Amino acid sequence: MRIILLGAPGAGKGTIAKFLCDFDGSIQISTGDILRAAVKAGTELGKKAKGYMDRGDLVPDSLIMNIMEARLQEPDCEKGFILDGFPRTIKQAEELKDLLKKLDIKLDLVVNLEVSRDVILDRLTTRRTCSNSECQEIYNIKSKPPTADGKCKKCGSPVIQRDDETEEAIVYRLKTYNEKTAPLIGFYETEGMLENFASTNSQETVEGIKKSLKSKV
Ligand code: AP5
Repeated sequence: MRIILLGAPGAGKGTIAKFLCDFDGSIQISTGDILRAAVKAGTELGKKAKGYMDRGDLVPDSLIMNIMEARLQEPDCEKGFILDGFPRTIKQAEELKDLLKKLDIKLDLVVNLEVSRDVILDRLTTRRTCSNSECQEIYNIKSKPPTADGKCKKCGSPVIQRDDETEEAIVYRLKTYNEKTAPLIGFYETEGMLENFASTNSQETVEGIKKSLKSKV
């Protein structure tokens, strides 16, 4: 499959992407994960991105487009891809459209994950993430806890809270989402690519997406 996952911070993009990858071997491309790995490794990209990320702001479009132009041409993308957290601005969406045209890649669907603000705030303050950059399994201390001693059930690494999970940064991320990313819903509606899915029960959301993809084949 070749899909874009849209949704506010905490809507469940990462969670749903992982289920969909298990389904047909498509790969998850999360710009957030790529940037966090760069910050951890102390690369030039990481140094440039860290300040924006910690305060809940978007990293400049040019940095993201450079990453994605290269990433979408890697061989593993041939199996299909799930874009998680990209595009995030109208400029990124327009540039992605041109890039896909240039690479002769057709998108199947743009999924918009819908969830209320109260649920988002609750989820983000209770989310935990595996610290192993190769794993990055997502946990939630209420709905999907790690082991009793705070380790990842998949790889055994410590499970941590992200640097942008302070209350101040969460509120700023939601404001940034409303101003810069929510307009993409209208953009992809106009393109005739968008479908909305409630993101309150992951299994039901995944089944809905699979059904919609089947109807397009
Ligand atoms: P990014 O990592 O993309 O963060 P985000 O969009 O804020 O999304 P999250 O990862 O916080 O949430 P999610 O929707 O994946 O939810 P999850 O599945 O974890 O980006 C981080 C930063 O990087 C940005 O702020 C920006 O600075 C930068 N960046 C990234 N991409 C960029 C771009 N394209 N342009 C510019 N800057 C960019 O779920 C959340 C929690 O809820 C988890 O605990 C999970 O277990 C739980 N949960 C999920 N679904 C359910 C359910 N159905 N029931 C119960 N619990 C659930």
